[in-house]
Amino acid sequence: MGTRNKSNFTSSIGFVLTAAGSAVGVGNIWRFPYLAAQDGGGLFLLVYLGLVLTFGFTLLTTDIAIGRRTGRNAWHAFGTIRPKWAFLGKLTFLVPAIIMTYYAVIGGWILKYATVYLTGQRAQAAQDSFFTDFITDRVPPIVFLLIFMAITAFVVYSGVEKGIEKFSKVVMPALLLMIIGTAIYSLTLSHTDASGVTRTGMQGLAVYLIPDFTGLTLTKFLNILLDAMGQLFFSLSVSMGIMITYGSYVKKEVNLEKSIAQVEFFDTGVAFLAGLMIIPAIFVFSGTDGMAAGPSLVFKSLPKVFHSMGQVGTLVGVIFFVMVLFAALTSCVSILETLVSTCMNIFHTSRKKVSLVIGVISAVAAVVVCLGYNVFYFEYTLPNGQTAQLLDVLDYISNNFLMPLIAFLTAVFVGWVIKPEWIAEEMEVQNAKFSKKRFYAVMVRWVVPVVMAVLFLQSTGLLAKLT
Ligand code: PFF
Repeated sequence: MGTRNKSNFTSSIGFVLTAAGSAVGVGNIWRFPYLAAQDGGGLFLLVYLGLVLTFGFTLLTTDIAIGRRTGRNAWHAFGTIRPKWAFLGKLTFLVPAIIMTYYAVIGGWILKYATVYLTGQRAQAAQDSFFTDFITDRVPPIVFLLIFMAITAFVVYSGVEKGIEKFSKVVMPALLLMIIGTAIYSLTLSHTDASGVTRTGMQGLAVYLIPDFTGLTLTKFLNILLDAMGQLFFSLSVSMGIMITYGSYVKKEVNLEKSIAQVEFFDTGVAFLAGLMIIPAIFVFSGTDGMAAGPSLVFKSLPKVFHSMGQVGTLVGVIFFVMVLFAALTSCVSILETLVSTCMNIFHTSRKKVSLVIGVISAVAAVVVCLGYNVFYFEYTLPNGQTAQLLDVLDYISNNFLMPLIAFLTAVFVGWVIKPEWIAEEMEVQNAKFSKKRFYAVMVRWVVPVVMAVLFLQSTGLLAKLT
């Protein structure tokens, strides 16, 4: 059944910052802006914020309370409570295992951009074909991903996460300031394209903030909901076991409800600001057509913004990509750490051995994903209508397919098997107040299972066949 984890977090701030370090990563700066842009800006933002306050709160509370009450990682937690439900812990493990394979690829892209700015290639990076030329190239993307992976594996191998955490306490606020500064600059942009149309940053801001309901159909809405929900899971690192493990490290005197709200606020704040920095900029330089770029969006739009700053843009580009690199690294370390610590627990082997084996397996898998842009290139139409390559397919399987399934099963387990009171008792230890107790119970018993079932059917394309 695994041993009880030691309580490492005595202060709530230590816990909040570490959880935020895992939560804030490329999900906020790369994934959120491209989804918001692709799904029409304001409408996506509105749906996402609604989900954070309802589903985000429910799922994060569930994960962290299960972790703290059982004192075990995800693999063992469910089985500790009810042996018949042990399978859920194992299913949960699949998600970080899948995400690991492509997170390092994106980490490699960020590393590449950091070096591009370090070597003063600001103008080249701003060219339209720069990103595509890079990822479709054979060797360079593999080299960058392997370097990124090696750094991640080294941190986990030597168990120096504490050092990284200390570092991220400085890097995170600095990253936030950078994003705010760039967002303000984005709003002042103005550009006249070849056809003589001038677009401004403030118009872009309107696209980002004001929901546009014209032409909205139920299917379209469900797809936006699915995208926003998948993003919520990914960004908050919920329904993938990681927050259960973090919960198991938290001391009883920490007020969970407050800490959970802070993690949500921090994570959502960074995502919102990243959107504010990127969406007006992409609108200015490429109009609404450019907004559907998908995963390449950030890598194509930001270099244009930095280029428009002139000489200063090189410095801003260096600082920005180096910081994003650290945000990506802290998240990737948390993913690999989950895989490694779980395997150490299962196989009773040393950290060093397990880190090496998992590090090598992850690197090989990431190389295969990387080759998805040339050797293994294909175009697959996902049930939501998007054209996908290997990386997008894996991202879809983990975030849009597996996570709703896990959230559904977890909600049924908590809502109907162990009952919401089980979670509430943990939230209320040492006389802490769980002010949203009734709301939580309704969410976990009714709303989460129903919505997750619908989204699961939607993500598999079954809903379209049934209706
Ligand atoms: N939440 C991280 C991000 O937004 O980039 C990604 C992530 C971290 C996913 C940890 C999975 C995980 F286990």
